[in-house]
Amino acid sequence: MCGIAGYIGTKSAAPIILDGLSRLEYRGYDSAGIAVFDGEKIHMKKAMGRLRVLDELTRHGADMPGFCGIGHTRWATHGCPSDTNAHPHMNEENTIAVVHNGIIENYARLKKRLEQKGCHFVSETDTEVLAHMLTEYYNGDPVAAIEKVMHRVEGSYALGIMFLDHPHHIYAARKDSPLIVGTNDSGKFIASDVPAILHHTRNVYYMENEEIVCLSNEHIRFFNIDGEAIAKEAVTIDWDIHAAEKGGYEHFMLKEIHEQPKAIRDTIFPRIKKDDIDLSELGLEEAEIRRLKKISIIACGSAFHAGVTGKYVLEGLARIPVEVDLASEYRYRDPIYERDSLVIIVSQSGETADSLAALREAKAHNGKVLSIVNVVGSSIARESDAVFYTWAGPEIAVATTKAYSCQLAAFYMLAMKFAQIRRTVTAERFDALLNALRLLPEQIEGLLSQKEKIQFFANHYLATEHIFFMGRGIDYALSLEGSLKLKEISYIHSEAYAAGELKHGTISLVEDGTLVVAVATQDALYSKTMSNIVEVKTRGAFVMGLTTLRHQDMENCADYVLYVPETENYFMGSLSIIPLQLFAYYVSLGRGLDVDKPRNLAKSVTVE
Ligand code: F6R
Repeated sequence: MCGIAGYIGTKSAAPIILDGLSRLEYRGYDSAGIAVFDGEKIHMKKAMGRLRVLDELTRHGADMPGFCGIGHTRWATHGCPSDTNAHPHMNEENTIAVVHNGIIENYARLKKRLEQKGCHFVSETDTEVLAHMLTEYYNGDPVAAIEKVMHRVEGSYALGIMFLDHPHHIYAARKDSPLIVGTNDSGKFIASDVPAILHHTRNVYYMENEEIVCLSNEHIRFFNIDGEAIAKEAVTIDWDIHAAEKGGYEHFMLKEIHEQPKAIRDTIFPRIKKDDIDLSELGLEEAEIRRLKKISIIACGSAFHAGVTGKYVLEGLARIPVEVDLASEYRYRDPIYERDSLVIIVSQSGETADSLAALREAKAHNGKVLSIVNVVGSSIARESDAVFYTWAGPEIAVATTKAYSCQLAAFYMLAMKFAQIRRTVTAERFDALLNALRLLPEQIEGLLSQKEKIQFFANHYLATEHIFFMGRGIDYALSLEGSLKLKEISYIHSEAYAAGELKHGTISLVEDGTLVVAVATQDALYSKTMSNIVEVKTRGAFVMGLTTLRHQDMENCADYVLYVPETENYFMGSLSIIPLQLFAYYVSLGRGLDVDKPRNLAKSVTVE
């Protein structure tokens, strides 16, 4: 969701910025723009649509000479996608250029005031107020002007700014929207995310909230919101550069689906020590875990779905009551905080605005927050009391796959450890669970090797308009994710239902030929789901069943059956999600859609 790339140094800035923006394309955007300072003037070009339009417009940057510039990919919030609303935005005198990620919440009030003072606005964006406010407060000292603006705006921002009378300088600031600064021998960079600069440097500074930075050829200077100089330490990014490239796969999503065994291995094996699970990194006391009376899992989208599975596993194994909330609901529902409870925030990006707000809400009530996060150093990770990192590596496709799978693995490990400490499982049961956990990556590899079967089936359903997913218990949690995967990348309407709930209304939508994907991997619930399959079959549905080999009798009822290997019932979701991810992928591919960058979606939703 929106991307920022900026460069100052000894090389031509525009090609570096365009390349940086292209590496952030996966985050989702609808227009792009760039401003380059040639030493005398700030030149700006903006274009709606894909980055390639801007690339062609600037002849790959060749038409924008200069060694200092800022660029942006915009995901529309205030004002429709258009050339005018694209960033950068400039003041009326064309002396200040701004790119912005985030939302200025009090922009309407600020805009009214500026208009009353005679400012003329050209765009519908909230960002443009920043350009005008900077002009208002500017008296030759950029940091002082930025500081004043920061004191007056409400909301979230990562900013890249250039001032005409400060050639060869880029200024940047952040609050609640990620921003990093990179440096190498040729120059200095700003970016909203690591992939934008990974090809140039691994040496970065993470900007904290309410910090300002000034980059020039000679120095990098950091300031706090009061304009006082502050010292910051650079860190080295240890990402594998190839992890952010397609590596021979047609799409990032397919690559990431195939990376799941490795991602799960990387997440679980370092935490398995001497046939035990070691979660001492979390700093949770055993007594604290024993005392736990409630766990609240809070997340959005797929991470929420992982949380729904987490509820079944934590309640089942550790016998702790768990509630699962959508972060966007939790933050406004006035939840009840109790002593001896734990809040778990789940987030791939660690930057999702609603999840971050829920975290802060919980912390404001003295809640203890553990987060399950994939991006090291992200806002959610930094603000949590403890972090369980999922080691999925960079996830580029908008539709999450490997991060979701690692979130499931994280819940299994937490549930097992909590159960062991609370003595709700025997040592033998714990060992059996651990053995099953260790086997999951290999079992997923086996499933991936059968992908042609799923492609064959998917190709028959390219023209379908509605699909239902149903299951009970963990199979229901899984159905939620299978359905979301399909709809977000194939644009086919689909719904996930707790199988027993279907007849309370939705079954009226099932008619001749309606595709129903029935997930029935839970032994104790198998016969119940089978009854639901009969119900939809009777109404003409075509049923694709998903079960384990021990339930081959499903073939007597379903029209097409896919099998997953046996594992512990609690871990079944890690196996059954694989065919559902592949199904969504192949339907999207068969329909000729942009699998990695589905319309209207952003990888990391950093606005409310
Ligand atoms: C779906 C998807 C989204 C995210 C959601 C939360 O494929 O990726 O539903 O799961 O936006 O994002 P994170 O996990 O970054 O907080």
